[in-house]
Amino acid sequence: MNIIKEIPSKETYIVRQPVLRKGKPIESCTFEGDDLKTTHHFGLFDDENLTGIISLFDKINPIFAEKNQAQIRGMAVLETYQKKGFGETLVKYCETYCITNKVDLIWFNARTTAVGFYKKMNYQPQGEPFEIKDVGEHYLMFKKL
Ligand SMILES: CC(C)(COP(=O)(O)OP(=O)(O)OC[C@H]1O[C@@H](n2cnc3c(N)ncnc32)[C@H](O)[C@@H]1OP(=O)(O)O)[C@@H](O)C(=O)NCCC(=O)NCCS
Repeated sequence: MNIIKEIPSKETYIVRQPVLRKGKPIESCTFEGDDLKTTHHFGLFDDENLTGIISLFDKINPIFAEKNQAQIRGMAVLETYQKKGFGETLVKYCETYCITNKVDLIWFNARTTAVGFYKKMNYQPQGEPFEIKDVGEHYLMFKKL
């Protein structure tokens, strides 16, 4: 059975490191603002094993006019559990959480390789691709809730 629950930032490293920071030290798994009161980390557990993660940051992107924005960061599913719907379940969980908390726009920097995944859930790319050092090419993506 799958359940999603809020987890401490350090627990995300179990998935962040092998999926998002492969071959890099554990320190590279820390994101600025991870432990702010306004930041929330959610984990998807498959039979008690943490298999997927997503984090929500209270962060405004001035490109967008909406007052109540949230940024998704650190979206990842362990390789052996990918393509089973877990990623989609996590994004939808965050959308419901955001709607409940009156957030009206979700945005994030998506790896170019994941743009198709987000498009399926009606997120739109905005502008040209850009490079994030040591991580690769990204697109700014968003969805109005
Ligand atoms: C991207 C990622 C989070 C997707 O999670 P997932 O659990 O594998 O995705 P799901 O099984 O929920 O996929 C939902 C739909 O998106 C599709 N999809 C999944 N990954 C995709 C991708 N990279 N490109 C295009 N479509 C994708 C699936 O085929 C599925 O489509 P369907 O409903 O028609 O069958 C996961 O593959 C991952 O962790 N990748 C490596 C890290 C990464 O890129 N994170 C995102 C950083 S911005």
